[in-house]
Amino acid sequence: VCWLSPEQTAGKQKPYMYTQGQAVLNRSFFPCFDTPSVKFTYSATVKVPEGFTAVMSATSWEKQKDNTFVFKMSQPIPSYLIALVVGDIVSADVGPRSCVWAEPCLIEAAKKEYDGVIEEFLVVGEKLFGPYVWGRYDILFMPPSFPFGGMENPCLTFVTPCLLAGDRSLVDVIIHEISHSWFGNLVTNATWGEFWLNEGFTMYAQRRISTEVYGLPYTCLEAATGRALLRQHMDATGEDHPLNKLRVVIEPGLWGINPDDTYNETPYEKGYCFVSYLAHLVGNQSKFDAFLQAYVNRFKFQSITADDTLGFFLEYFPELKEKGVDSIPGFEFDRWLNTPGWPPYLPDLSPGQQLMRPADELAELWAADGLNMEAIEAVDITGWRTYQLVYFLDQVLQKSPLPEGNVKRLSKMYPKISKAQNAELRLRWCQIVLKNNLEPEYSKVKDFLHSQGKQKYTLPLYRAMWGGSEATRALAMETFSATAPQLHVNVQNYVRKILGLGAAE
Ligand code: BES
Ligand code: ZN
Repeated sequence: VCWLSPEQTAGKQKPYMYTQGQAVLNRSFFPCFDTPSVKFTYSATVKVPEGFTAVMSATSWEKQKDNTFVFKMSQPIPSYLIALVVGDIVSADVGPRSCVWAEPCLIEAAKKEYDGVIEEFLVVGEKLFGPYVWGRYDILFMPPSFPFGGMENPCLTFVTPCLLAGDRSLVDVIIHEISHSWFGNLVTNATWGEFWLNEGFTMYAQRRISTEVYGLPYTCLEAATGRALLRQHMDATGEDHPLNKLRVVIEPGLWGINPDDTYNETPYEKGYCFVSYLAHLVGNQSKFDAFLQAYVNRFKFQSITADDTLGFFLEYFPELKEKGVDSIPGFEFDRWLNTPGWPPYLPDLSPGQQLMRPADELAELWAADGLNMEAIEAVDITGWRTYQLVYFLDQVLQKSPLPEGNVKRLSKMYPKISKAQNAELRLRWCQIVLKNNLEPEYSKVKDFLHSQGKQKYTLPLYRAMWGGSEATRALAMETFSATAPQLHVNVQNYVRKILGLGAAE
């Protein structure tokens, strides 16, 4: 349960409290069987001080007298999906079954970002995966220290305020959380060792919805940035790392292992590859879509293991079972689940080439020894989408450090990138600044880390600073001592570990 002081909110006027259940934090919120294998309904009565509003992940709620809110979740859910926020928050409608919640100072931006777009995602999701059973789908914009991009609390997704980019460019996070309405929230991993069942299927569902709404080229571009994250993760840990398999052994030590400590890109992006491989075996998109819908229907409101999933797959496609697709050498289902390393099958992302090729070529030019400014100036990036820029920056990062002086020039040439407000661009720019020791821009790293506390932005930057020079190590220490109190306790502890400090309470 996170208690924020007024300074830790966007409005800086009133305190705020929120809960984050996933993976095993809700045991400190209420007594429960805190495992995803147990599902139950709940109701709650929450009395708050005058001037505050309470919201929960519930199918219905009602405000009674004396600032008392009564909530009811009428569908069975696992403990980690119960969530509560109390704060100075207001709402605005953005669709027939959707509103946005935010602090008053953010509500206009929140409404503008998503007005009229949510319903289409829900409709496409229902067409692909079956009925949306949760009634409403609302979105709550959290204070800046919220550690995730999004959290799929049923009926009420929690998101980072970083999504307020002004141009809907980060809407893939919303599509992702909506996809959990079927994969994760209806069909749930029975143990955190099989987290890929939640996240791998959700990545696949997210990209199916995205393909229907935005087309294949754009979706492949987004998937390519996901693949780059998996590459970075496996390079950093070594492919053989035991966490780089889909089924993770979470062995109890003296105090047990915290499943949050196993969090990484593998369940997301390797999981996505495995689901894509299953689709590839079927060889026909609409047949595979129909399978996904049947799978949700078969296991809805249950908690299952990968054996259930794969057993059902083979049962649903008896001709594939007969062919023995679960034991094709090199692609055995068992290997997918239990062998660490790079995915044996990668879905074809070439439909994204039209968007990626210009970015690849431009990155090549910037990595060259003597810069060919004529060729560089001939490329006009003003019309590029955010994910094209993200992809470009990932390529530049991969080639970094660039020859002396190149990044400084790049920074001057593209203020759209080096002065970006978009969090995905800021993260990449900060990574490039650090990898190239661009000292004059170190303050941007500091500013970014002061502005938000998302785990996936915070940890890579501290790792980069700690792995760098004396100066970047000092920057890390200075930034952490100033921002630590604002960070979620999990994130604080992960940063402490990176910096070689002892764990906080
Ligand atoms: N359920 C996760 C967030 C999570 C995972 C919280 C594990 C606690 C423990 C959520 O659905 C998620 O994956 N969010 C991503 C979105 C992205 C993949 C589009 C995030 O926060 O970055
Ligand atoms: Zn997710």
